[in-house]
Amino acid sequence: MNQLRGFSQWMYEFDVPSETLHQMQTLATTLPYQTNQTNLNSFVPDTVDSPQMRPIRKWIDSCLCQVKLDLDLECEELRVNIDWFNRTDTGMWHHAHTHDNSFLSGVIYLTPSDSETIFSVPSIWGPSHTMLNLIHPNNSRVFFNYPTTVGKMLIFPAQLTHSASTHTGLEPRYTMAFNAFPSGFIGSQSENHYRKFMNITVNQEK
Ligand SMILES: [Fe+2]
Repeated sequence: MNQLRGFSQWMYEFDVPSETLHQMQTLATTLPYQTNQTNLNSFVPDTVDSPQMRPIRKWIDSCLCQVKLDLDLECEELRVNIDWFNRTDTGMWHHAHTHDNSFLSGVIYLTPSDSETIFSVPSIWGPSHTMLNLIHPNNSRVFFNYPTTVGKMLIFPAQLTHSASTHTGLEPRYTMAFNAFPSGFIGSQSENHYRKFMNITVNQEK
């Protein structure tokens, strides 16, 4: 008997330009933080109109445009709709979670750490594909671990479960995270799969 491996999936990885990375690193270390279960995140009531965030968002939006084209998504554009910073002190980790009210999400690694981001999806041998739940909990999910890599950005589906393992370094681990939403016209232009268009505006700058 052989295990036949299949169903390769992917996320998107980008190199952050050095100037943009520096802007994010500066912001990350100057913002106030609040407790977020097992780590800390930035307390910024509204970053939409923040002039400091504008060039950062602009660069992320350009990356989202590449993702949209690569996936051949049927929307006019994708835009960041909210962003925040995470701070993980020594001994902290980030609990498993997904991002609600979002289509795609992203993380940008700002400082070094031994912590890994752990992504996971349900195994096809669990109840999502077998109806019966007979699988041992240890085998119920398939994992992908990504090491903290300063200067890299990942973009992934917002409902993809992820967490971050314990940070043991003495200096805090900083990351920036964001959610993205389609903006403009949304819907299929295919004659076979006609769906009504919707035209929405996401985070139009004032
Ligand atoms: Fe997250």
